[in-house]
Amino acid sequence: MHKITMLGTGLIGMFYTMALHGQRSRDQVQVVYSRTAERAAKFASDWNIPKTTTDMAAAINDSDTDVVVVGLPNHLHEEAVRLAAQAGKAVLCTKPLGRNAGEARRMLEAVERAGVFHGYLEDLVYTPKTLKAVQSVRNGALGKVLWARSRETHPGPHSDWFWNKALSGGGAIVDMGCHCIEISRNFIGKEVRPLEVMCWADTQVHPIEAEDSAVGLVRYASGAIGQFEVSWTFRGGMDLRDEVSGTEGTIWLNHWLRTGYEMFTAVGEGGYVAEKAEGATGWLFPVGDEPASLGYVHMFGDMLNALDAGRKPMEDFYDGYVVNAIIDAAYRSAQSKRWEPIQLDIWRGAEGTTGEVELTSYDDQHYLIKEEKMADGRTKLILKEKAGGKVIQKILDSAGA
Ligand SMILES: NC(=O)c1ccc[n+]([C@@H]2O[C@H](COP(=O)([O-])OP(=O)(O)OC[C@H]3O[C@@H](n4cnc5c(N)ncnc54)[C@H](O)[C@@H]3O)[C@@H](O)[C@H]2O)c1
Repeated sequence: MHKITMLGTGLIGMFYTMALHGQRSRDQVQVVYSRTAERAAKFASDWNIPKTTTDMAAAINDSDTDVVVVGLPNHLHEEAVRLAAQAGKAVLCTKPLGRNAGEARRMLEAVERAGVFHGYLEDLVYTPKTLKAVQSVRNGALGKVLWARSRETHPGPHSDWFWNKALSGGGAIVDMGCHCIEISRNFIGKEVRPLEVMCWADTQVHPIEAEDSAVGLVRYASGAIGQFEVSWTFRGGMDLRDEVSGTEGTIWLNHWLRTGYEMFTAVGEGGYVAEKAEGATGWLFPVGDEPASLGYVHMFGDMLNALDAGRKPMEDFYDGYVVNAIIDAAYRSAQSKRWEPIQLDIWRGAEGTTGEVELTSYDDQHYLIKEEKMADGRTKLILKEKAGGKVIQKILDSAGA
């Protein structure tokens, strides 16, 4: 059982507390920190939390707690992590780890120097669907992964600080690209080195300094591509979709708008529909169990089980640092309009090129490029001569002759 200090009483502080206190959990948020006493008291009363404070250091150093959860705006993550490491406590930090790789690296070094447990709270790799999909990919169901596309778009975030580049570190890329990048890394393989990024970013709609839309390609040492698509301009709710393609298969995941629960109501559902839902009438996509569907429940399960077992969780600060390094390269690319190398001063995965695709032999003389059954019953084979390299086609009749 763990007693937890919760830093932040906003959207994520609430979902984290719901997940931690859900399903008769033995783990308990013991202390909550908020800027104002009123907000802290309301949050504590809503979620049955014994202690409140408006002093962040006091919340972290409270002698009753052994785990600190950071659910504060991005510019406060480093300070919170530094204080938690100094206090010798396990620290779990929300995404993005830092506003940039420099901050993330200092946070990684602080927890490793202090020898404290650290977890990166990237919930979207912990959705039940994603956990199963990643396991299938590791079992070889898709063959070699070639392309992992992840999309996160909605009409824009819910608090002022997200829209302030100095506090947040950027726009949709740092806010949501961090999810997409880590989802792709999980499918492509975290041991595979990300090499370079090509990114388009623009401020299409909002009067802000940062980008409100971006598309990026991350090239990995295996030849795989991770594609992220992010926007704060999308209308119609929150679109969270992933697609993974490999030499032997494909996975499509939809986490929010087409989950199998669709409702039409002319009069309204009578309550909260789902995060970032734009309306309460017409066609709706309610979500049965938001903390579970977004991965928070399985994420805290893994984090606290790992802490108990003395092992690393599936996502730790090193992952957060790699994600921030990829994001930094994306911002450089959006400026230069060229492929930009990813600067990873600390790399703990495999070196060199990995996972070449093996050519499929058709017979002694040919490689098989493609086989397709046509509507008239014939089968077309596209072959390449092993000796000369010429591409030819061979047609078999419906009897295979
Ligand atoms: N799926 C996810 O993992 C997910 C979702 C949303 C937010 N987040 C992350 O969680 C963090 C917080 O986001 P949120 O959505 O909860 O934001 P929010 O604005 O809803 O809440 C932020 C909290 O921090 C407090 N706060 C704001 N400015 C402060 C300051 N200067 N000093 C002290 N406290 C301050 C606010 O009062 C509030 O309690 C961000 O890093 C964000 O990226 C993660």
